Amino acid sequence: MGAMVAANWKMNLPPEGVEAWVGSVVGREESEDVLVVVAPPFPFLTQLAHLGGGAISVAAQNLSEHEAGAYTGEVSAGMLDRAGCSHVIVGHSERRQIYGEGDELVGRKLRAAASAGLVPIFCIGETKELRDGGGTRGLLERQIGTALRVAGTVDGLVVAYEPVWAIGTGDNATPEQVGETHAQIRDLLTPFGLADVILLYGGSVKPDNAAELAAVEGVDGFLVGGASLTSESFKAIWQAMVSSRA
Ligand code: PGA
Repeated sequence: MGAMVAANWKMNLPPEGVEAWVGSVVGREESEDVLVVVAPPFPFLTQLAHLGGGAISVAAQNLSEHEAGAYTGEVSAGMLDRAGCSHVIVGHSERRQIYGEGDELVGRKLRAAASAGLVPIFCIGETKELRDGGGTRGLLERQIGTALRVAGTVDGLVVAYEPVWAIGTGDNATPEQVGETHAQIRDLLTPFGLADVILLYGGSVKPDNAAELAAVEGVDGFLVGGASLTSESFKAIWQAMVSSRA
């Protein structure tokens, strides 16, 4: 099974500069085994695709569920494809929480991505209240079930387990929590014929916790926010993933 380490820059750019970041990441020895994906803000997609020269895959952080038309401020899957994207993040918790994206919209976005040949990185995960109240599995079941029923078949789907309470907090899920939840997620994906998807973990992944998280059974990579903004820390996380598969 493949593996992936994806950088989600959110609405930020690397302090060292985009060019220096890419130069530093693609300049190292490549591991064909662990795909590097970078998700910059929209205006930087083409630059990333150009600078990456095929050594990195480019992802958008969001897309429209529509193909074209009067949707001010939106970008379609076909346009992302033309801009050099191969992947797109769908259903990130910041889209769900700040912009009110629900499971059905997420499903329509998954379908739009798939119909343009983009690989969606489909994000799911519970809040602190749900985890504390024992509602994690129920929520994941709803997020997966509703979106995938709307989306239909999505070739090459990647799923990212991102507990909301671990995102940007410095407080990552423990290896035990990740192992247990990834197993539940694979269970929930099985009826959709997706037991073998690439399943990422995201939420405060850093160089100093990457190795122990990479060693967890069922973790095929990471979706990294804050620690992806400097090439040094991103490369350390990538290396941890590569080493865990050696
Ligand atoms: P973080 O973000 O690594 O800064 O916690 C992860 C994400 O939002 O994908």
